[in-house]
Amino acid sequence: MAGVAQAAGKLEIFSWWSGIEAPALDALVKLYQATYPGVNVDNATVTGGAGTNAKAILKTRMLNGDAPDSFQAHAGQELTGTWVVSNRMEDLSSLYKSEGWNTKFPKAVIDLLSHKGGIYSVPVDVHRSNVMWYVPATLKKYGVTAPTSWGEMLKACTVLKAKGMVAPLAMGENWTQQMVWESVAVGILGPKGWNDLWAGKLKFTDPSVVDTFNVYGKLLDCANRNANDLNWQQASIRLLTGEAAFNIMGDWAAGYLTTIKNLKPGVGFAWSASPSTSGTFIMLADSFGLPKGAKDRAEAINWLKVLGSKEGQDVFNPLKGSIAARTDSDLGRYGAYSQSAARDWKSKVIVGSMVHGAAANEAFTSGFSTVMETFGLNHDSTMAAQATQALAVQSKIGQ
Ligand code: GAL
Repeated sequence: MAGVAQAAGKLEIFSWWSGIEAPALDALVKLYQATYPGVNVDNATVTGGAGTNAKAILKTRMLNGDAPDSFQAHAGQELTGTWVVSNRMEDLSSLYKSEGWNTKFPKAVIDLLSHKGGIYSVPVDVHRSNVMWYVPATLKKYGVTAPTSWGEMLKACTVLKAKGMVAPLAMGENWTQQMVWESVAVGILGPKGWNDLWAGKLKFTDPSVVDTFNVYGKLLDCANRNANDLNWQQASIRLLTGEAAFNIMGDWAAGYLTTIKNLKPGVGFAWSASPSTSGTFIMLADSFGLPKGAKDRAEAINWLKVLGSKEGQDVFNPLKGSIAARTDSDLGRYGAYSQSAARDWKSKVIVGSMVHGAAANEAFTSGFSTVMETFGLNHDSTMAAQATQALAVQSKIGQ
C-alpha cells in the first residue's frame, strides 16, 4: 500500500464486530486513519454474534436508500445471492485490477465474491467453522481425550457425565447450534454430500441427512440446557470455568481466548477439528463491499484498499483468530492457532459454511434457525429433515 495520502471527509463502515469482538476491526480502522488522516470514521457496529441483528438492520437501511459506505457481508451466497442479484453493489473488478488482487487472493475465494463476471467485495479474513475447543487441564482432570469422531464424542459425554460434569458440551444461542449441526452434517455426509446438498443434488429428506439430526439431537442431550440464553463468548467461558469440556465454534474463539482472555494457545486452551471432520476445512470469509449510492464513495474505496492490503490483513487477522485471505501474509506475525489453520487451509478439502453465508443464501440460513428452534423442542429428526427440504425449495437452493 502507498504511504500516507492526503484525505478528508468521512466514512461509515458497518459490521457486527462490537465490544469484545472489536479489537481486530479497531486495529484496521487505526491503520486506515494513519494512511488517510483527516477522514472522520463512523465505525457503526450492531452487537450480536454472526450478524444476526446487524443483518436485519442493514436490510432496512439498504431498502430505505440509506446504505452505509461499506458493510460486512460473508463471501458467497450471503453477498451474491442477496445484495448482488438485487443489483445493489458496485462491481469492484477494476479495483482488483489496479491493486493487483487477482493474483493475491485465492481463486476459490474470488469465485465466492463473483457473479456474472463481476467481483463484488474484498475479503478481509478466512475463518474456519469446524473447530472443537477444549482446555487440556480439564480433559486431564476427567481422564478423557479429545474425541475424533461423533461416536467418540457421545462416549466422552457419557464418561464425563458419570464423573459429575452435568453438560460436557458448551452450547450457545441458535446460530451456534446451527454450527454444531453443520459440523455433524459435514462429518456424516462428507464434503461431497455436503456440497450436493447446496447444489440441490441431495435431498434433506435423504436418510443420511435425517441421521445428521439424530446425532445432533444426542449432542443436545450432552449440552447445557440454557444454550438459548448464552452468546458465543458465554458458551466459551463454560470451558474456562470447567463447567464444560468441549465447544464447537468458529475460530473467532481463538481470537477471543488469546486477544481478550490472554490465554496461551496449546496451554490455556487447545483445539482440533470438529469430530469426524479432520480432513475438511469448513470455510467462511468476512468481506466488505461498496453499495451503489454510497455517500462517501472515494473514502470507501480507500477503506477497501486498506483492508485488502497485506498490511491490513496482517494487522487484522492475528487479533481476530482468522487467517489472511491473501496468500502472501506474514505468518510470523500470527499465533500458534492461526499458523495451524493456515496449514490446514492449504491441505484440507475446502467446503463452504452454511451458517455463515458461503454455501447458502440468507433466506435459507435465517429460515433454518426456525427448524433448529423446533427441533430443540421436539427432537423429531424426520420432521426437521422435511422442514429443511421445504425451506431449501422455497429458498431456491441449488437453482
Ligand atoms: C461470523 C463472522 C466472524 C465472527 C462471528 C461471531 O459470522 O464471520 O467474523 O464475527 O460471526 O460473531
